[in-house]
Amino acid sequence: MRVLEGSERDELLATLGWWVEAGVDTLVDASPRDWRTPPPRATIREIPASLPEPELVLRTGTASPPATVTATTIGELRHAVEIFEGCPLRTGNVSTVFADGNPEADLMLIGEAPGAQEDRMGLPFVGPAGQLLDRMLAAIGRNRTTAYITNVTFWRPPGNRTPTPAEVETTMPFVRRHIALVRPKTIVALGACAARALTGDVTGIMRLRGQWRTISVEGTDFPILPTLHPAFLLRQPEAKRLAWADLLAVKAKLDAD
Ligand code: URA
Repeated sequence: MRVLEGSERDELLATLGWWVEAGVDTLVDASPRDWRTPPPRATIREIPASLPEPELVLRTGTASPPATVTATTIGELRHAVEIFEGCPLRTGNVSTVFADGNPEADLMLIGEAPGAQEDRMGLPFVGPAGQLLDRMLAAIGRNRTTAYITNVTFWRPPGNRTPTPAEVETTMPFVRRHIALVRPKTIVALGACAARALTGDVTGIMRLRGQWRTISVEGTDFPILPTLHPAFLLRQPEAKRLAWADLLAVKAKLDAD
């Protein structure tokens, strides 16, 4: 084996980092080959009787929500999520990304799913979208000591795709318990996926945003405001004025209560 050093090593690490950002997170073969060149056609007699086991099998497993979530503390809930195997998204990721911020806070923000940087660090909203979220919070006088941040799924979907409804269904019992334990005064749903999962309303986010709803979680009502996801705002900065209006509504509600 040859040990890479210096600029050769840096170049390889940069290439690997670029692949991970682009969603390539599965090693299919032990040695590289050119996928654009079709392999020679095998005749029937050339196919071996038993095929070798694939080296890595990722994203398998059936989606099945937990029967019950009995955690009575945030620590117990985190542990229950960490050992949960019913969500296919968990395979192939580095971290279970549970939450960040202050669980005693009156403001709970719920996003969609961790991305590459969140998976690497084990914390939600630490990449570019997270940095914008921090600035949005700062604009209403909040930060991670006065807000609590989590997602509707705890593992990074391959290639940062949106989690499927079946995947979200497996994690929602944990999310509901999470809300019941934190008991925030106000919830903010960040983006369409979280808004749909939490309110059950499949209306597009541009119509849903800015409209207060009430959700019932384990017998308690919580006000929730869907707003635009910070990742969307990075792509469409002109929509920031809508998110700003939503943030002001959140601040007014928290100040009034
Ligand atoms: N987007 C999300 O929805 N959640 C994160 O944690 C990061 C990016």
